Amino acid sequence: MIIEGGQRLIGEIRVGGAKNAALPLLLAALLTDEEVILHNVPDLRDVTTVEKLLESLGVAITRKGSDAVINARGLNAIEAPYDLVKTMRASVLVMGPLLSRRLESKVSLPGGCAIGTRPINLHLNGFEALGAKISLEHGDIHAKAKKLKGAAIDFPIPTVTGTENLMMAACLAKGETVIENAAREPEVVELGRFINAMGGDISGLGTRTLTIRGVSELHGAEYSIMPDRVEAATYMAAAGVTQGNILLKGVPVASLKAVIDKLVEAGMEIKEENGNTRCLMIGPVRNVDVKTMPYPGFPTDMQAQLMAMMCFATGLSVISETVFENRFMHVGELKRMGADIHVEGHSAIIRGKGGLSGAPVMATDLRASASLVIAGLAAHGTTEISRIYHLDRGYEKMEEKLQSAGAVIRRVRE
Ligand code: EPU
Repeated sequence: MIIEGGQRLIGEIRVGGAKNAALPLLLAALLTDEEVILHNVPDLRDVTTVEKLLESLGVAITRKGSDAVINARGLNAIEAPYDLVKTMRASVLVMGPLLSRRLESKVSLPGGCAIGTRPINLHLNGFEALGAKISLEHGDIHAKAKKLKGAAIDFPIPTVTGTENLMMAACLAKGETVIENAAREPEVVELGRFINAMGGDISGLGTRTLTIRGVSELHGAEYSIMPDRVEAATYMAAAGVTQGNILLKGVPVASLKAVIDKLVEAGMEIKEENGNTRCLMIGPVRNVDVKTMPYPGFPTDMQAQLMAMMCFATGLSVISETVFENRFMHVGELKRMGADIHVEGHSAIIRGKGGLSGAPVMATDLRASASLVIAGLAAHGTTEISRIYHLDRGYEKMEEKLQSAGAVIRRVRE
């Protein structure tokens, strides 16, 4: 991706369907033999990976634009192939629904990734509590149960995909499952609402305690996936660093309170305008401190983008990452663009110098890539970001959306 920095972003950008809701919802289609219709499914690499995973299990999927029609009547396998799992950690979300439907699942143990070791012990402890036996064979996790029975599960820390996996495993189990310290992210709520639309019985969504009463079967459903809060927030930050003025369409404003509060503190004006969201920056970027937290706190998925923005402030910002242990891979790349950032433990101290200069940099993970795009949009000169395929995992047509708002950005073959 080659970006000529320094253009104000002015125009309109539409936010697509949420990646982290689309992935579990697509997999939840495994929970019924009936047809599931999903609308607002984003066109992303991770979504394609889940679709391939479902097809490898015998599930029929038809895509037409942002609609997906899924029918799991042909489900004939319990194993997720390694070559798919290794490209996307969220593939572990196939375990819950497979255990529900087939009482068995086999998935490669995902290794470490660019943002940390990311274990799945809490998912597995939960499956065991529901009655599954877990074994590790040749790098695969094998979960098998005679039957699944409701249980009390208390997470020591909230886990998003762990909560989702257990909701899917427990919704057809016998009896009641109570998950304490459940994740409260909007995407978890979205999955719960979808399962309920299929005839499930989950209550407490959006709170720390989820109660899942097992039902004997689920039926088909039609559902429109919520808009992507991280995509929306990324474009807000892009408008902020470029002294921009953009109208974002389809922003899930309520779920972005923590982010919008910080962007306003950093000098932005963000307000509702006829059902859309006006994002405006007049004046210099102001330095702010941020600590990432589980929802409703400031999301870790926006940490890298905010750090890029802070490089354009003057003064000191402290950004603390409390969710993942190693999510500062973008720091070295931002430094190549002239940033003054010092990492100490879980915190990054940014001495904003009011700007960056374009440089060749390398994307390391999805949100780190987004932070480099934000940096490049406002930097002096040309920024060339390689390994940009990371971006396609979670941002739909990013360069087209930015171009439509005046950015000088293009993709070239490496
Ligand atoms: N954790 C454990 N054991 C577990 C599960 C999690 O120790 O069994 C730890 C993790 O290592 C981490 C913390 O718990 O330190 C929270 O991780 P969580 O499980 O909530 O993360 P996740 O479910 O793997 C999802 C999103 C991530 C997002 C995080 C946090 C999906 C598919 N992924 O991951 O999204 O950063 O929640 O909000 O929903 C992204 O979109 O770029 C992305 C990485």
